[in-house]
Amino acid sequence: MSQIYLEMNHVKKTFGELEVLKDISLSVHKGEVVSVIGPSGSGKSTLLRCATMLEKMDGGDLSFLGEKAAWEENGKCVYANKKQLKEIRKNFGLVFQNFNLFPHYTVMKNIIDAPVCVDDVSKEEAKERAWKLLKQLGLSDKADAYPYQLSGGQQQRVSIARALALQPKVLFFDEPTSALDPELTGEVLRVIRQLADEHMTMVIVTHEMQFAKELSDRVIFMEKGLVCQEGTPEEVFGNPNARVKEFIGRVMQV
Ligand SMILES: Nc1ncnc2c1ncn2[C@@H]1O[C@H](COP(=O)(O)OP(=O)(O)O)[C@@H](O)[C@H]1O
Ligand SMILES: [Mg+2]
Repeated sequence: MSQIYLEMNHVKKTFGELEVLKDISLSVHKGEVVSVIGPSGSGKSTLLRCATMLEKMDGGDLSFLGEKAAWEENGKCVYANKKQLKEIRKNFGLVFQNFNLFPHYTVMKNIIDAPVCVDDVSKEEAKERAWKLLKQLGLSDKADAYPYQLSGGQQQRVSIARALALQPKVLFFDEPTSALDPELTGEVLRVIRQLADEHMTMVIVTHEMQFAKELSDRVIFMEKGLVCQEGTPEEVFGNPNARVKEFIGRVMQV
């Protein structure tokens, strides 16, 4: 088996009284595409937020490419120091449902900002990378546009370019097409498919069942903070347990 890029073991997360992640383990190998599906409120976003350290876990461990970001010590979750976390953060990027572009920056500035300001990449190199990405994502003519001048699908492609500009090893998507009109969904899914063809390692939370079925190496169905079923798309969609069957039936109908 190839190298493990992301590993999470026995992750727990509570908000007050609410146990949102009860005991989740997930490992993603180099080049793998893992889709996370499940009903609203099952903890999918929280799982991504814990994986990308936007949220602190209450238990369990987290590592990227074998580097420990967090682990349990005396029943508590301890994180690596700031400097180590900064290095570990370079391994991944995150694409949100609502694009989260800076509204007062042009497309180009949105893409080069983090590489230049956070990653100490030279401006020329960052721009060179950005032009390549814009071309790849069909946005060459949009470098000087502001987000409000773009369609939702174009904005989402810019936010994918922005994440890729940091050259992550793992890319996380949290419902990347949920805020889009159906006719704009396709252009974003095509870009993700293109990345999968290039063997980008990805974890994708999605409601697009057909897409998850076709694209993923592995599908994880989450419910109430636990993994309810996990397997290849053939296993999960071809032989779903009762709960998954009910969910898929409901989602694929609408
Ligand atoms: N910051 C937060 N504070 C309190 N509760 C939260 C917070 N974030 C998420 N939750 C709760 O955790 C549960 C899981 O949410 P979420 O991870 O967003 O699920 P999903 O992405 O699967 O819809 C929900 O009940 C939600 O209300
Ligand atoms: Mg969510």
